[in-house]
This record gives sequence, C-alpha cells and structure tokens, in this order.
Amino acid sequence: NKPITLTTLAKMRAEGEKIAMVTGYDASFAALLERCGVDVVLVGDSLGNVLQGQKTTLPVTLEHMAYHTECVVRGCNRPFVVTDMPFGSYQESPEQAMRNAARLMAAGAQMVKLEGGAHMAETVRFLVERGVPVCAHIGLTPQSVNQLGGYRVQGRTEAGATELKADALALEQAGAALVVMEMVPADVAGEITRSLSTMATIGIGAGADCDGQVLVLHDLIGVFPGHKARFVKNFMEGAASIDEAVSRYVEAVRNRTFPAAEHCY
Ligand code: KIV
Ligand code: NA
Repeated sequence: NKPITLTTLAKMRAEGEKIAMVTGYDASFAALLERCGVDVVLVGDSLGNVLQGQKTTLPVTLEHMAYHTECVVRGCNRPFVVTDMPFGSYQESPEQAMRNAARLMAAGAQMVKLEGGAHMAETVRFLVERGVPVCAHIGLTPQSVNQLGGYRVQGRTEAGATELKADALALEQAGAALVVMEMVPADVAGEITRSLSTMATIGIGAGADCDGQVLVLHDLIGVFPGHKARFVKNFMEGAASIDEAVSRYVEAVRNRTFPAAEHCY
C-alpha cells in the first residue's frame, strides 16, 4: 500500500484502471477514505457549501483551504491529496497563483486544482514548470456561477463542445496531469477523454467514459441537505456503514457501474 503519486495515476490511466476520487476535509474522514480504497482525496472548495453552509464557493479563503488540507494530510497516507485554489487566489496572474499554490503545498497538498479552460493554460504551465502539479477543472466551474447564470450543463451545443475540447487540449499541453469535467454531456466527455494522450479526466456528471470519477463526500453519504444534482448517488442506501458506502462507491467506479445512465447528461 505505497502512497499514490502522479506516476501511479498516469499508470492507472494508461492501463484503463479507473481512478476513484472523493472530497475530504478532515483527518477522520481522510482515514476512512484511505481504508476504503479511495485513490485521490480532493480538499474541495465545496467545503464552502457542505461545511460552512454558504450558497456558493465564492467566500472560501486560502486560509480555509490550507487549514482543511492540514487536517486531511494528518489522517491519511496512501491517497494523493489535491487541494482547490479558492476564488480570487489564482486568476490575477501566474505569479499570484504560484504564491498561493505554495501555501497550499506547504500545508500538505500534492497538487492544486484550479478552474478554467484555455485562458488558464499559461498559469498551469507556470505552476507545473515550478514543481506544482495541476488538476484543471472545466465544464461547470462553480466559482463562475454568476457568469454562467446557474449550475447547468456545459458543452451542450456544437460550439460549446468544440470549445471544451480545445480547453482540454490546451490544458494538457500546458502540463496539467488531471482535469475534472463537471456537468458535461457523456458523449462529449468521452470524446475528450479519448482525444487526450497524457491528462487523465475525472468526471462528475460527465459520464462513465472518463478515466476516473469524483463525488462530494457529503453527497455520497447522503448528508448534504441541499439540492441533489442528477449526477449524485447516495451510496448509504442499502449500506450498513459509511465504510461500506464509500467502499461500494470505489468498487462501482472501478467496475464502471457508476455513473449509470440516470446520473448522466
Ligand atoms: O470542490 C469540489 O468538491 C470540487 C468537485 C466537485 C470536483 O471541485
Ligand atoms: Na471545487
């Protein structure tokens, strides 16, 4: 049970072994995710929603993200830990992004995640060249909810799909090792996944053809009281414990039974 690295993830992608990712925000759940076989723990800025009760991720700060990263890394050893860069911490310039990514890496993150397509490619390259692995995030990017006009499926039109493909390619060429695709039609996400040569795709509401899947922990165990998106499955249904629910999620990702058609667009 050696710690998972970027090399492990690249090998999984190359061999068609699905990557199971879940969000985690504290040490106890990080330990639980580890013993249930989760490969990647995402310290997501969804903590604004599920921990803080905010309506959006916009109020989340760098200090919140660093604090929860520190909590998570104390609780687990094997999973690869990715931390979201919060709104306003990376959009100004590559230099701003590097300064704030360094804070998250010092807190224990092994990779940072940032939202945005081709326009973020320069920043991605700047970070990667300086030793900071990057996970990109395209499709529905929650930090842009006010610009997007709500939490809705992206890349539905021909032009939208073409733009998403170009975004993914630009991010891969800039050196991003992972890309989260959120609320993207399954056929578009599948096409993008097959078009890439190194960057692994992680879907959330993006179909079963991605290289891996991610869910918010609180959605996965059915404790988030807010709106339940189409792509969410409550794995506590029929499970006797949280350990069993998370283990079932990991198994369902690995054997491609999650997401099913009912979770896709
Ligand atoms: O913050 C988060 O939890 C995320 C995932 C939904 C991908 O970005
Ligand atoms: Na996020």
